Order: sequence, then structure tokens, then C-alpha cells
Amino acid sequence: MSLPKRYLITSALPYANGLKHVGHLAGAYIPADIYARYLRAQKRDVVFVCGSDEHGTAIPIQATKEGTTPRAIIDKYHEAMKQDFEDLSMSFDIYHRTSEPIHHETAQEFFTYLNDRGELETKETEQYYDEEAKTFLADRYIKGTCPNCGSDRAFGDQCENCGRTLSPDELINPVSTLSGKAPVKKKTSHWYLPLGKHEEFLREWILNEHKDDWRATVVGQCKSWIEGGLQSRAVTRDLDWGIKVPLKDAEGKVLYVWFDAPIGYISATKQWALNNGKDWEPYWNDKDTKLVHFIGKDNIVFHCIIFPIMLKLHGNILPTNVPANEFLNLEGDKMSTSRNWKLDMRDYITDFVKKENGGGQTVDMLRYYLTQIAPETKDSEFMWKGFQDAVNSELVSIFGNFVNRTWVLMHKLCGGKVPKLHEELLDDEDRKLMAEIENAKAKVENLLEEYKFRDALFEVIDLSRRGNQYMQKKEPWIVAKQLAENPEAQKSIDNTMHLCLQLSANLAILINPFLPNTAKKMIGMMKVVEKMLDWENAGKLKLLSVGYTLRAPELLFRKIEDDEIKYQVEKLKSGLVKPETTTTKVEEAKSETANLKSEIQFDDFAKIDLKVGTIVTAEKVEKADKLLKLSIDLGFETRTIVSGIALHFKPEDIVGKQVVVVANLAPRKMRGIESNGMILMAEDKEGKLHFVSPSTVINPGAGVS
Ligand code: MF3
Ligand code: ZN
Repeated sequence: MSLPKRYLITSALPYANGLKHVGHLAGAYIPADIYARYLRAQKRDVVFVCGSDEHGTAIPIQATKEGTTPRAIIDKYHEAMKQDFEDLSMSFDIYHRTSEPIHHETAQEFFTYLNDRGELETKETEQYYDEEAKTFLADRYIKGTCPNCGSDRAFGDQCENCGRTLSPDELINPVSTLSGKAPVKKKTSHWYLPLGKHEEFLREWILNEHKDDWRATVVGQCKSWIEGGLQSRAVTRDLDWGIKVPLKDAEGKVLYVWFDAPIGYISATKQWALNNGKDWEPYWNDKDTKLVHFIGKDNIVFHCIIFPIMLKLHGNILPTNVPANEFLNLEGDKMSTSRNWKLDMRDYITDFVKKENGGGQTVDMLRYYLTQIAPETKDSEFMWKGFQDAVNSELVSIFGNFVNRTWVLMHKLCGGKVPKLHEELLDDEDRKLMAEIENAKAKVENLLEEYKFRDALFEVIDLSRRGNQYMQKKEPWIVAKQLAENPEAQKSIDNTMHLCLQLSANLAILINPFLPNTAKKMIGMMKVVEKMLDWENAGKLKLLSVGYTLRAPELLFRKIEDDEIKYQVEKLKSGLVKPETTTTKVEEAKSETANLKSEIQFDDFAKIDLKVGTIVTAEKVEKADKLLKLSIDLGFETRTIVSGIALHFKPEDIVGKQVVVVANLAPRKMRGIESNGMILMAEDKEGKLHFVSPSTVINPGAGVS
């Protein structure tokens, strides 16, 4: 098989509606970065693009939550995500954004092209509409119960729990996320992409051509889509945030976010080309380009079915592979933004990366663990203990230890220079190691070419493990004791250290795509130029020249202490928003020690809208002995709030009481009742609850700050 002329690597464009967590990082970013770095080290022509996905209902919804404009939201999170990626050594050639004019033009041209050629249909249908908010309820403006997994927090476009793509009509008990009311149906017309027309193409391309070289999980999902009957998909929405449909008489219509976002890969490539004086076209039009999309499993249908149809119709190349990852869980539970059960990239950066003295060792430690547990074939688990073990017993004890011992001994026993190799004295053990070094390149390379990043990384670590075993067998420090009687013994020491050094140089090349900061440090220690890291040098045994003086060793990795892990687990648990409690209970409040959550900024606090309310009615909730259903007068409206205080108060005792209400909390269902906010309670040492209320009765609706 001949090599592709060029590569276009993409990572899913993250929504600019919030910070991203390490599950995202492990799924769509780190593997892509490893692949791109590997290809660059191979001197291939590669462009690696990413950027912020700035349309869709997720953006205005976040704006409402934060009491600001969609524009302010995308600006804020675009910058934040860009920074976080940079802090974690992601090597995008461009990190673009879909709000750029070049993207709007590109997406509109795409739409027009398909529409002009009759590849889109228009249809009038009845869609959910919120009469109170006077708007159609697309995507995340509507939620309900997932028909697939039964989660009651599924959105109109997707269930966050099981990842299944949905349409609003599939939701059971749909409610508007704007008003909390059940929606009505209203007529509207939209443009549709008829997927059914392309069934034959998809069958041939995915189920036949790629059945063996794409991941089984990806082919499997595509198969069930194809066999489930391919429905036409609307590619426009009634919204005021998004890319305008480029037609007259399309007032109030925008492109569906999943129509425009993947085109973002193309506009990012265009911008990259403009910035670098290159031609973008061959990257998307030339059959000799290998296009690879790195995504999480919830994005499979868009990248394997819908976008390829669009690409085909538009005359572009199709992806060669879409190595989608499954999900990453955290400490035994699904990662979830709404429940605050997650580890944001930013949190890791603050707690580890920023506390380090530069050099990127903690960045590489995270990259290492996330690659080692990458959910390539099934869901996997981020455990803080697992992180500690991976760092301490692999990076520190195996890889770091081998390199460090090599350097220390080379300085001690060989005068800080690369010793000579005495070929005539090579024994079986030496030859075995030499063969292993030579073979490692092909092993790692084959695995990387197959997107098996976990296994590839394992091979690299395994090679360093072999280095340790070799050194342990050779024991040059023991041999050194014979030097007084037998000066010839120096030759044996030289051979051992020479091979350990050449192995270290090889390790630097092989680890580079995975842990670029470590590789950089190693070339510093070897006093060689970055060019030595070129992939073609892997497997060579003469990378460091005899007699060359090397620098002192630097510690490549530090240990992760028990305290650090304990702190992280506690932090995670204390930040958890529990579904069934509505009191601000600090778990360990019974102890005398201050139990403070981690520090927040004023802006974080300012997001919480606290209002004084008066309890108008209170009643027990059937079959839930802890819950009371309250209606609370907030001045401007009366709300239903379900609160877990039934064991502490009788309903009749609290009517008329004033409380402080978190008024802008997203609604949630408890025992089938939608709770719109929560009330604040103080808990004393005995665990008794007390109302937090103004010292005299005041007008309901008064703000608390
Ligand atoms: N923003 C989407 C998500 O986070 C991913 C978009 S990928 C793209 O799930 F292809 F559309 F860009
Ligand atoms: Zn579901």
C-alpha cells in the first residue's frame, strides 16, 4: 500500500458552553494529538485542526444560565478551552471557531450547493412549541425521558446518559426547558437531508469497505442506524442563534448546529492555509489525503453517516477512519456536568500543572494515564488511585527510573561521556536487548497506524522495563568493584552503559508523540537537537556518538503523594450535587473542623440568584418520606420546590415561613414532580435543620447577596 500524500486530522469541536473535562480529553483530543505528533515525526504532510463549536441551543441556554449574551458565552469559553488545550500540550495547527465569517460563508456555500442540486427536501411538519416562551423547542430547549435508557434528563437532540441521538418526537413526557411546561405542536417548515437516499452508499462504504479496519463499536453503531431505517434529518432550525439560512423567505431560520459544525473542520483548514500561505483544497478534495476524525462515541452518527453524505454530495473526500472512543467514567460513576461529577481539564491544570515549576511533567503524567486507560473498545474508568499507581509504579519506577539510573551510572562509571561499544565482547544479553530496540519501532508504529494508542504506549513502557531488567542483570555497579584487579572490566561496563544510553535515546523518540514534554527534557539531557526525535531514527543503535559529553540527569517525573489523591477524591465528593437533597448540607458539618469547599471566584458566586420567598403551601410527597412539596411565593411568581426536609418539619408548621431560595437552579424532577429551585437550610451539630430567613418578614422576591 502506498503512503497517503497528506493527512488531515480532526478533533471534535467542543461546544463553547463550558469547560471540558478529562473524559473529553481522553476521547477526542489526546489520541488525535498522539497521532498528529507521530505523523509529524514521520515527516508526513499533516494538518491537525480543531476549534470551538459556537452554535446550537447549548449556547443561548448557557447564556440564560449565566445571565449574559450568547456572544459573551462563546468568547469566554472559546478562550478558556483554547488555553486549557494549550496548557495540556495539544498541538493543533489551528484552533479555530465557528463564529468566524469564513466559517459562516463556508457553511452557507455548502447548504446552497446541496440545495441548488436538489439534494435537500423541504417539508412542513408539526413541531413542539412553547406557548409561553413563544418559540419552537429545538434540541436542548426540550427535555424528557429517554426512550432508550429511561433517563429523565434526555434532551431533544441527545440523551446525555446513554449517548443516543434523539429527535424531540422520541422523548417521553417532553417538557420545555424554557418554561418547564408541556409543549404544544405547531406547524413549521424546514430543509431536510434525506439520508435514506444514500443507504446503498453507506452500506457499501461502511459495512463492506470498512468493516474490518474501523473499530467494531463504530461499525456496529452505524449498522444499527442503517438497519433501523434512515430517516430524513432536518438541517435547519427556528432559532435566532446560528448561521442564517442563505435563502430569501428563510427569516428566523438557521442551519442546524450539526450541519455547520463539521464543516468547521473545512473552514479551520482554510484559515490555517491562509495563515501559512498554503492551499487548503487538496486536504479536502484530493483522494490522496487521509482524513481521520477523532471523536467520542456520541458523535458517531454525525461523523460516519450524516457528514460523509454531505461530503460526498459536495464532492469532497471521505474520512479514512473515525476512531471513536467510548466513555470515560470517574471514580465509579458517569461523568456529568449537571451533577458536577467530573474532573475538568482546568481543575487538573490548577491543581497540578500550575503548581509545577514548568517543564510539563504533570501534563505528561495526565496524558500518560489518560492514554493508558483510553476507552478504545469499551467504557473505562478514571480513578485517582489508578492515576497515582500509573505515575508512581510505571512512569516513576520504570521509565523514569531507567533513564535516571542510566544517567547517574554513566556519570559515575563512564566519566559523563558516551562510552565505546566493544563489539567483540557483546554477549547474548546485549544482543537480545539490541534486537528489542530495533524491533520496537515497527511494533509501536503498527499499533499507532491502527489507532491502538494504549497498546502502543504499553510497548514503549515495556521497552523501558526491559532496560531495567537488562541493567539489573548486568549490574555494572558490581562489575565496577572488580576494576582494581581487572581493568578490563571497564569494557563490560562500557558496553552496558552504551546500550542503556542508546536505548534511552530510542525511548525519547518513541515516547515523544505521547509525552512530548518528557521527550524534550530527554533531548536536553542528551544535548542533542530536536531532529534526533525524527521517527526514522527509532530502532537505530548509534544515535549518541561515542565520547560525547552528556548533561546531568533531570528528574523526569515526580511521585504522586497519598495526600494529593485524598484531596482530589474529597473535592470531587464534596462538590457533588446530589439529586435527592435540596438542602445545602455540608457532609461533614458535624465535625468541628472547618469544612470548606474549594475556593471560588466572585463570578462563580454571582451566578447564583438568591431570593427571599414565602412558603404558601406544604405537603408530603407520596412514597417519599424525606420530601415535602412546597409552593413558594417569590413575589413575581409562585414556584413548586421539592425539598428533603420532611423528617425535620411538619408541613403545617412551616406555611408562612420565609426562606432563601436558589431561584435560578435548573429544574429537576423528583418523584415525578418538577422542582424549580431549592431552599437554603442550616444544619447544626446534631444534624437538625434550621431555616435561613430574613430577621424580619420582608417582601417576597427580595434579592439576597
Ligand atoms: N460540539 C459537539 C459535541 O461536543 C461536537 C462537534 S464535532 C463537529 O458533541 F464535527 F461537529 F465539529
Ligand atoms: Zn438514554
